[in-house]
Amino acid sequence: MDRDQKFYDIYSVVIGGLALFALAIFVLSKKMSDMTQGIYTSSAVEYQQAVSERLQPFGQVYMPGESIPADEPQVAEAAQADPVATTLSGPQVYNAACIACHGSGIGGAPTLADAANWAPRAAQGTDTLHDHAVNGYQGNAGYMPPKGGRLDLSDQEIHDAVDYMLSQIP
Ligand code: HEC
Repeated sequence: MDRDQKFYDIYSVVIGGLALFALAIFVLSKKMSDMTQGIYTSSAVEYQQAVSERLQPFGQVYMPGESIPADEPQVAEAAQADPVATTLSGPQVYNAACIACHGSGIGGAPTLADAANWAPRAAQGTDTLHDHAVNGYQGNAGYMPPKGGRLDLSDQEIHDAVDYMLSQIP
């Protein structure tokens, strides 16, 4: 009985101590959360402000119409360049894309000086020549690649180049 009593005493002290410890932790954590996350005390409000200041993004974008505070650097609007015409003329296309073969007759390409070579071709009609230049053409002399390999050029640009070539044949 005496030993039970002694065990009981120690047990109560330990339980009591643990209860006090738990209480202390609770009070302490409450105090700390008030300091950091509470929204009612004035120091918490300041803390919140400080946090939200730190969370501000490094840079800010002003949307059109928003007024920019005077101390912000004002960026001068860059002058807009006029859009450049991107359509190439017949001679431009010829010099950029066709002359490589047709200038010197590479791979059997008829040169512009070779009128006799062009006569039967021209006889096919301009539409056929346009079509052969745009879509490519395998003839007896060699292979004419579609658009001369410049698939980025428009059909119209190729047509203009063909017309230019025909106009240059003596
Ligand atoms: C890689 C070389 C090459 C390039 C680049 C090239 N051609 Fe040709 N082209 C040929 C060859 C080869 C022929 C002849 C094919 C044949 O008759 O056998 C030809 C033929 C033609 C013909 C005649 C087609 C026919 O029906 O007789 C036209 C028109 C023509 N080319 C236009 C052009 C134009 C326009 C360009 C530039 C956009 C161009 N070529 C670029 C190789 C080329």
